Amino acid sequence: MELLVATHNQHKKIEIQQILGKEFTVKSLTNYGIYDEIVEDGHSFEDNALIKARFCYEKTGIPSLGDDSGLVVEALDGRPGIYSARYAGNHDFEKNIAKVLLELEGQKNRKAFFTTVLCYYDQNGPKFFEGIINGNILEENRGHKGFGYDPVFVPDGYKITFAEMSPKDKNQISHRKRAMDKFLEFL
Ligand code: IMP
Repeated sequence: MELLVATHNQHKKIEIQQILGKEFTVKSLTNYGIYDEIVEDGHSFEDNALIKARFCYEKTGIPSLGDDSGLVVEALDGRPGIYSARYAGNHDFEKNIAKVLLELEGQKNRKAFFTTVLCYYDQNGPKFFEGIINGNILEENRGHKGFGYDPVFVPDGYKITFAEMSPKDKNQISHRKRAMDKFLEFL
């Protein structure tokens, strides 16, 4: 079965191909010569995942997968949420972390979670799969692995941040993995 993933990111494509195995041929937008910018102007992770998956399906008729992820901080009323990638600077991880830490200064409640919402779109319309990992936000960065908010996020049950974990360990418990597991179960 062929699956179109709504991304130009080849790493994301390869990661999904590895998870799904040989029964699936995973393609990216680039493989289809689609270079349109998909405008993610939804108001929720679900909206944005749907926008991406529906765009791909309507353009190609191939079953498509869209995803949207982010960090949700309890004491910040859910921010940065859907704005995680561009909270202070566009894909500027250091600035984005600095803004979250500043907003949390003096705050005792450090609870947060990462979420991934996947939207699978085919002739039957959309289906959604969510993965979540709960944890806490530190007061300063620790570790250099990973990306995004990894250096300040300690998952529940652990003493180290995502950025101090091996990618293998992170990928076993991550929000992305949990959402993919649900999608796999559905398939
Ligand atoms: P995307 O939807 O996968 O592109 O994720 C959007 C943004 O959420 C990223 O740019 C990061 O800032 C943040 N994010 C998502 N997943 C992770 C993660 O596993 N670790 C750290 N930050 C993440």
